[in-house]
Amino acid sequence: MNYFPMDTENLRRDFPSLQQQINGKPIVYFDNACMTLRPRQVLESMNEYYERFPGCAGRSIHKFGTAVTDAYENARQRISRFINAAKPEEIVFTRNTTEGINLVANSLGLAKGDIVITSDREHNSNLLPWQILSKTRGMVHKVIKSLEDETFDIDAFRNSVGGAKLVSVVHSSNIDGYELPVKDIIRISHDASALVMLDSAQAAPHKKIDVRGLGADFLAFSGHKMLGPSGTGALYAKYDHLERLEPFMVGGDTVARTTYDSHEFLNPPEKFEAGLQNYAGAIGMATAADYLENTGLDNIQQHERKIAAYLRQQMEQIDGLRILGVRDDSLTGGVISFSIKGVSHHDIAMIMDQTSNIMIRSGQHCAHSWFSSRGLDGSARVSLYLYNTMEEADTFLQQLKEVAKLG
Ligand code: ALA
Repeated sequence: MNYFPMDTENLRRDFPSLQQQINGKPIVYFDNACMTLRPRQVLESMNEYYERFPGCAGRSIHKFGTAVTDAYENARQRISRFINAAKPEEIVFTRNTTEGINLVANSLGLAKGDIVITSDREHNSNLLPWQILSKTRGMVHKVIKSLEDETFDIDAFRNSVGGAKLVSVVHSSNIDGYELPVKDIIRISHDASALVMLDSAQAAPHKKIDVRGLGADFLAFSGHKMLGPSGTGALYAKYDHLERLEPFMVGGDTVARTTYDSHEFLNPPEKFEAGLQNYAGAIGMATAADYLENTGLDNIQQHERKIAAYLRQQMEQIDGLRILGVRDDSLTGGVISFSIKGVSHHDIAMIMDQTSNIMIRSGQHCAHSWFSSRGLDGSARVSLYLYNTMEEADTFLQQLKEVAKLG
């Protein structure tokens, strides 16, 4: 039965991994903030590369070489359209969001005294680069503490942003699905002449991103969190920034010419894509973007929010269960972190998996700083996507009530 503005039942047939049963039971996949499943369309598009034109792009002039160059640049165009970039050349293919953030961190030329501001709910990928550069270059990393209700403290941010070179914040949190007020953050940052980078790993798969509307200077996201192949991602940057940035990974296909003691870089994005690339990955990621566009990002967001609101409301009735982070359905997406008194987060996840094939994540979700600053050792986490259903939510709730009795 369809409860939502899209045909979930039909759409699930596209996902081979959802068709299997394990130990005679169906699977419930609720770990989408970590890795999403792939539809056959993505797998087929990647196979097409391997079977029909498995050459290297941008170099060889033979038939395989030209076919893969066309397919790779076509993939760039589709990813550019997916986030409404001004032109395909504003997209640099990466391995993941982490690589995109590291690229900017290491290419911006940050120097002693330069200030970078983040929120206090960053993934390690948007924390470690600044800690390292603080040590090696004397850059200054400032953290904006959340308000009591765990939302972003925009006033504290406004008072701190003066003099910052870069504001680099998570767009939607992988802890609780909270979406930061990024439009306000960008406006305030630009008024203070600071650049803005968004870690959109958890946003781009779940809502329509319009980089031109947002005005972000840099935006990084991953393919594997949006139905694409593992180890794929993209960095968007305004083209004039890309022209100014110095590449930090250099090598084949980044240069127009070299001598023994000189080099001339190619234009962006080529100068940032050193060595042979993951062509099948880029093609698969673009097919995933098409799939999401065809399904409708607004539909997907609405679908996830509806299941998440139902889950939160039901979970709060369970004795000993605590939902962590922001508790406002209008500000959060399909990510729910929780704890159960007397049952460790890893035990919750293990019991769910072993008894019912319900796959959730447990631990600190690569956001150790958020958990340790709040005296927490981690959480169990449900994260939803377009193929999840209300029936799965009920299966999960039923099992969760059993687990809570152990506490
Ligand atoms: N960032 C990924 C997650 O939240 C690894 O699970």
